[in-house]
Amino acid sequence: MSVVTEIAPDIYRISTFVPEYRIQFNQFLVKDDEPFLMHTAFRKLFPLTREAIATVIDPALLRWIGFSHFEPDECGALNEYLAIAPRAEPVASFVGAHVMLADFSDKPPRVLADGEVIDTGRHRLRFISTPHVPHCWDAGLFFEERDRTLFCSDLFFHPGDPAALNESSVVAPARDAMTASLTGPMAHDVPYTPHTDSTLQALADLQPRTLALMHGSSFRGDGAGAVRELAKVWKELLGGAKGS
Ligand SMILES: [Fe+2]
Ligand SMILES: [Fe+2]
Repeated sequence: MSVVTEIAPDIYRISTFVPEYRIQFNQFLVKDDEPFLMHTAFRKLFPLTREAIATVIDPALLRWIGFSHFEPDECGALNEYLAIAPRAEPVASFVGAHVMLADFSDKPPRVLADGEVIDTGRHRLRFISTPHVPHCWDAGLFFEERDRTLFCSDLFFHPGDPAALNESSVVAPARDAMTASLTGPMAHDVPYTPHTDSTLQALADLQPRTLALMHGSSFRGDGAGAVRELAKVWKELLGGAKGS
């Protein structure tokens, strides 16, 4: 079953804990004149997530479907949503649209340039191009400008089935999870490139008030400080700042 929580005004977190993976897969619905869905989750979760969305809006009214990068947890159920929502359009970076969605999507995607805004009525969603952050060539994030919510995909990943919203620390669990993964089969999920740190600093400069995480609790508080702390952790653990 998926759990629905309003984490910011009109922003609903749809959380599905999958025991086999022992992690949450969180989607975010922006309830507005033109409803926006961030991530579709897996194709196999579609019956569950559609039912959860239906507790907030009629899923047939979805207008925009966005996600950070082309992976099944981010966009696996895209075509299922397009089939039930006749006005829905996928939105993606140039690379995401031309390299991935041109073949995968049943409907042509709208290409978003870096900084381009989707106006959904009462909200403005800014697309921030972030190649290889958290990973994949096509990556980008969305920033909701009215209440300053950053939909940050796999950034701050932490496992388990934690509370919907955390107002204390989001960096410590993310650091623990990354440290634990460095020696396991899921290592190397984040490529540390010459652009990684400047990309994270630009995200911090957005001054987010809420960080909407795909895997783990969302965070409300000093989002800029949290992103800058995360940048330090990545530099230390992945960027060779300590010894290696
Ligand atoms: Fe991912
Ligand atoms: Fe993910």
